[in-house]
Amino acid sequence: MGFPLDHQTPEGWVALVEQEPTRLLEDHAHCELKAASSAHALIAKNPERTELVQDLADIAIEELEHFKVVVAELEARGGRLGEQTENLYAATLHRRSAKSRESLVLDRLVIAHLIEARSLERFHLLAEHSRDGRLRELFAELLPSEAAHQGFYAKASRSLFGRARADDRIACLRQLEGEIMAFLPFSYTVHSGMVGAPELGQVER
Ligand SMILES: [Fe+2]
Ligand SMILES: [Fe+2]
Repeated sequence: MGFPLDHQTPEGWVALVEQEPTRLLEDHAHCELKAASSAHALIAKNPERTELVQDLADIAIEELEHFKVVVAELEARGGRLGEQTENLYAATLHRRSAKSRESLVLDRLVIAHLIEARSLERFHLLAEHSRDGRLRELFAELLPSEAAHQGFYAKASRSLFGRARADDRIACLRQLEGEIMAFLPFSYTVHSGMVGAPELGQVER
């Protein structure tokens, strides 16, 4: 399956990240909450764009539903939602893109598209390769709406800013996203990099 991304995650990432399912789920629950917040923020920035507002409200509701599903799975495994911590991946993407930014709204749409696309790639890997049956099911269940969200944000950026301008920015930030992903450290999170990851041979399978 092809994803609109420059840096492809190695399959071995799953074997590492699934070793700490409660840490993965806790981080992911917060990601769902942040995805709902991003949709809220875009509504607040574009109150006059009625159609966009309706679609963003639907996304925010859907992300909160995902949040509930992920928290339920976390708690079923004895975990608990802790305080939100910074998502290094998303924070770096926002910070580094700001240097060349022309429009905050365009960048927010494009970054939302890229984060959804990266989440989709990771969900797909987990749904296909995790040895944990419940994790496979959970991420397979979340896949279709993340696929729709990444498509929605790309489409919204084109309809608001014109295809040529939006596609230019998508290409630019997609390259930046790939560069960031290639240098991020490993952690038990959906958006982790592979730098400093334990050797695959050290992980019991
Ligand atoms: Fe989601
Ligand atoms: Fe999403």
